Amino acid sequence: MYTGLLHLHSSLRYVVLILLIIAVVKAWMNWQGNKDFTAGDKKIYLFTFIASHIQLLIGLVLYFVSPIVDQVYTDFGAAMKNQVLRFWGVEHFVGMLLAIILITVGYSSSKKVADAIAKHKKIAIFYTIGLIIILVSIPWPFSSVARPWF
Ligand code: HEM
Repeated sequence: MYTGLLHLHSSLRYVVLILLIIAVVKAWMNWQGNKDFTAGDKKIYLFTFIASHIQLLIGLVLYFVSPIVDQVYTDFGAAMKNQVLRFWGVEHFVGMLLAIILITVGYSSSKKVADAIAKHKKIAIFYTIGLIIILVSIPWPFSSVARPWF
């Protein structure tokens, strides 16, 4: 189960990233261009929100079955002094959780305002910060805690 989930989680990052990038570009263009809130906008903002939540659920399951995270909790103090263990035990988890909370706040607060421009603005700001945090919390092959592209 662990290996299958890890592959799923790894591939799903691209779905989340592509949706998030499209949503962010659209939201900024709609906000700056004073555009109406269309059914298409609603769809892309919602699908991004859903994809990030599915990724969160898989991440949470992984957190409990991962042998690396298991190692972290065997000796938490020592693990915090190890860059790789600290990344998997704390940094990846906290960074991604924060990003998904921001996406959630952006999506739900955009639903509460009636004005189209205010909706786009909320999505633009919250999703952009979420995107940046996700980009820096991914263990890219070129980062210090390197993992493969897929
Ligand atoms: C948008 C959100 C997220 C993205 C894009 C993301 C991305 C990734 C990537 C690319 C990997 C490496 C996969 C591989 O080695 O093949 C990974 C692993 C992992 N992620 Fe996430 N992740 C996200 C959210 C989360 C969250 C919220 C948690 C925890 C609650 C989490 C927990 C983990 C764990 C435990 C591993 C595996 C560590 C191991 O045993 O090797 N992830 N994630």
